[in-house]
Amino acid sequence: MQIRLDKFLADVGIGTRSEVKTIIKRKVVTVNGVSDVKPETKVNPDTDEVAIDGRAVILRGKVTYLLHKPAGYVCAVKDNLFPTVMELVPQGKDLFPVGRLDKDTEGLLLITNDGMMAHRMLSPRSHVDKTYLAVLDRPAEDANVSLFAEGVDIGDETPTLPARLVICDADAPELAYLPEEYRTKLCPGQVVLLTIHEGRYHQVKRMFHAVGREVVYLKRLSFGTVKLPLSLKRGEWQNI
Ligand code: URA
Repeated sequence: MQIRLDKFLADVGIGTRSEVKTIIKRKVVTVNGVSDVKPETKVNPDTDEVAIDGRAVILRGKVTYLLHKPAGYVCAVKDNLFPTVMELVPQGKDLFPVGRLDKDTEGLLLITNDGMMAHRMLSPRSHVDKTYLAVLDRPAEDANVSLFAEGVDIGDETPTLPARLVICDADAPELAYLPEEYRTKLCPGQVVLLTIHEGRYHQVKRMFHAVGREVVYLKRLSFGTVKLPLSLKRGEWQNI
């Protein structure tokens, strides 16, 4: 099915019909790489590649992107101060990040227009596992493992749910996810994996703070059954 380019862009939520006409006049819209397009140019949303400023525009049913979030981006649809994760994936109607990672946290982030899926992943009752790789300012110790398994008081009304802390050995495969600068100069015990089943504000940082440690680097490696592919570089995304 072919539709007019201005209708396509309006349907996707880029702007009103008159706003998208102005955008098209600025020559920033391409169809299959061609920039000589008009509002009335016909496009097939299933087969043509439409882009604005080089970023693809998608009109399909449900989409979910697995983004390797880099530090420096906020998990919001819009922000007045900082770049948002939405700038890193194709543009499309009703897309939003599934939950939040802090601005300085990296790793697996889902961006979707599938509200039901997001609800299932985020609902406190679902207890979906989230595994984080963290570098601490000083080594974790075995006592932290047992305390985290019981639940930690992080200043909320209730302690955290039991969480699984693993102190990484020097040959742990997860170390491959660390940026180069961290790989060499770490003491034994400074790199840990923490799996939590809830999603409280700054939860990982607050759990380590509660046991006298600060998180100096944080990366989410998995969210439910979805894992961050080692081959996906920071800022890259793939469909799931
Ligand atoms: N816990 C944190 O402290 N920060 C994150 O970004 C995610 C979990």
